[in-house]
Amino acid sequence: MASIDLDSPTAGGTTAAQAKPRNAQHVAGLRSYGLLYGSSPAMLDLYEQIERVASTDATALIIGESGTGKELVARTIHDQSTRKEAPFIAVNCGAIPDELIEAELFGHEKGSFTGAVQGRIGYFEHANNGTLFLDEVTEMSPVRQVKLLRALETGTFFRVGGTELIHSNVRVIAATNRDPAVAVKENGLREDLMYRLAVFPLRAPPLREREGDRELLAQYFLAALNEQEGASKTFSKRALDTLRTWSWPGNVRELKNAIYRAFILAETVVELPHPHLAARIKKPLTQGDSMSVWIGTPLADAQKQIILGTLKYCGGDKRRAAKALGVSLKTLYNRLSTYGDEAADEPTSDEA
Ligand SMILES: Nc1ncnc2c1ncn2[C@@H]1O[C@H](COP(=O)(O)OP(=O)(O)OP(=O)(O)O)[C@@H](O)[C@H]1O
Ligand SMILES: [Mg+2]
Repeated sequence: MASIDLDSPTAGGTTAAQAKPRNAQHVAGLRSYGLLYGSSPAMLDLYEQIERVASTDATALIIGESGTGKELVARTIHDQSTRKEAPFIAVNCGAIPDELIEAELFGHEKGSFTGAVQGRIGYFEHANNGTLFLDEVTEMSPVRQVKLLRALETGTFFRVGGTELIHSNVRVIAATNRDPAVAVKENGLREDLMYRLAVFPLRAPPLREREGDRELLAQYFLAALNEQEGASKTFSKRALDTLRTWSWPGNVRELKNAIYRAFILAETVVELPHPHLAARIKKPLTQGDSMSVWIGTPLADAQKQIILGTLKYCGGDKRRAAKALGVSLKTLYNRLSTYGDEAADEPTSDEA
């Protein structure tokens, strides 16, 4: 059970020709494009837009709620482009402390700051001839945004502490789960950067707008698990009802994780917990400085609950929370970034 990898539906390699919409293995009626699965009109429209933008070098901005597959969209654009043999590098801007992001993106020269004992090239150089995916791009401070904008406009940049102008041939794809117009008004996203990034905007639709896809995707994920485990489990009628009636606010990620959990618990018939129960499993019981986690909570979820619970208990002070959890501040940032909106709901008082 240890090596199940639902994250790579096309593991084994897809060529551009194979990536045309086609019936996905196992599930009648399910279409796919690159790494993306879904047959709803919203997805077919997205496939078309990806195909259009992939043949250009235009900067693309992918907008969508958490778990809608923004990273898969970015990878699919890369795989369909002439850059596909060159690197695809994904950077989560929200997970990198602001004072480090410039060096991470553009590299730094030896001795350019305390601890810079060696020079290092940044992601822009690593991704030369390929694609740089900037996730949670709205989280960068305005000062860093100016540097990013300049690099996008000119295709050149300086390493931190460097004097040589470096050129890198990079196609940038950015993603955000915020509405960019709102991020400009309320979250300090520079309007000029927003327009520069959104030369070609793409919207990753939430599951609730993807008519018919919930059941198709669920059958696809179940078939993949059955195949990997040599099993032949099926959904109960009640599970199919839940699939259709639950709104899946965590989108494909929530759907996939729910099916994975239900698959493990099932002998032959896979039950999906009633939404009320799903909500109960999601929320730990917190009382003062202790919390209890439901039996059967997947380790990754338990870890998330403990991290978010501790952060809340520390009044949003990330340094204190990291210390209490015995992890570095960077690790805490990394974890929080993967939790998306839920982590953003927690109050924060410490920005590193
Ligand atoms: N259309 C899809 N077909 C198959 N799998 C999908 C699809 N959309 C999302 N997934 C799966 O759902 C999970 C979440 O996808 P991804 O990480 O790309 O979402 P995201 O929009 O980047 O989320 P976040 O905003 O939280 O970073 C991944 O495991 C991905 O493989
Ligand atoms: Mg993402």
